[in-house]
Amino acid sequence: MTTVQALCTSITNGYLQDGASVKDIKDFIKENTEVVNKHNLTPEIRLRLFTPNCRFWHARPELWPFTDPFWAIYWPGGQALTRYLLSNPGVSKGKRVLDLGCGCGASTIAAKFCGAARVVANDIDPVAGIATQLNCELNGLDPVLCETENTIGSEPEGYDLILLGDMFYEEALADSLHNWLDRCINTHGTQVLIGDPGRASFEGHGIRRFLRQEARFELPEAVREENYGLSFTTVWRYLPELRHTHSHSD
Ligand SMILES: C[S@@+](CC[C@H](N)C(=O)[O-])C[C@H]1O[C@@H](n2cnc3c(N)ncnc32)[C@H](O)[C@@H]1O
Repeated sequence: MTTVQALCTSITNGYLQDGASVKDIKDFIKENTEVVNKHNLTPEIRLRLFTPNCRFWHARPELWPFTDPFWAIYWPGGQALTRYLLSNPGVSKGKRVLDLGCGCGASTIAAKFCGAARVVANDIDPVAGIATQLNCELNGLDPVLCETENTIGSEPEGYDLILLGDMFYEEALADSLHNWLDRCINTHGTQVLIGDPGRASFEGHGIRRFLRQEARFELPEAVREENYGLSFTTVWRYLPELRHTHSHSD
């Protein structure tokens, strides 16, 4: 039996229970999620997500066997990014794309739909990699390469475009992403797109000065209800040249 340890190259953070096989986890995801393509910004894509019809939606949190299932939620930042990619296929067409913090894999699927040359889905939660595979299958796509090592801080070679859907939800993570993205852009000229619904840890972060708004979407009512206080979600492009503008005027 293929174990998750064999599938994922670097499971060091105890995300998975020993002995759980990829098939076990796939079955678990199928049993405990619902296929959804409504009430979000991208009805073209079908995703297995947590909904009120799922058993664990109502169960006590300690019964859940894994870490927090971020992959079972389609985050507002990811929705913006995925909508933007689907509506602007030229953005990812022919590109080597890294979807960092892929979660359910929606942006990965959009990039593949749009003809990206290569897409790597990366998430430090290996269950997210398996959910992304299942969601690729669900949308009639070939399997995608899912990586689980922490790429932030590593040498970011081989990508034309990095996608970050709702990845600025914690200050420490935002800081390390900012430093790493600077390196990706400076060393390799990588393009960077960020989807974010206006989280405080993003809006107040230094990276905001170097971003240009590419698109803004009103969140569907159901998403607004689940994300109290959020009404819009935005796609930003990291423009390194703005750094010079700021260093002159600061
Ligand atoms: C808020 S969710 C966003 C998921 C997806 N991009 C979306 O918008 O629906 C953040 C995801 O980032 C992953 N993550 C957190 N830190 C990470 C890191 N250093 N490298 C890769 N993934 C990370 C989490 O496991 C989680 O799946």
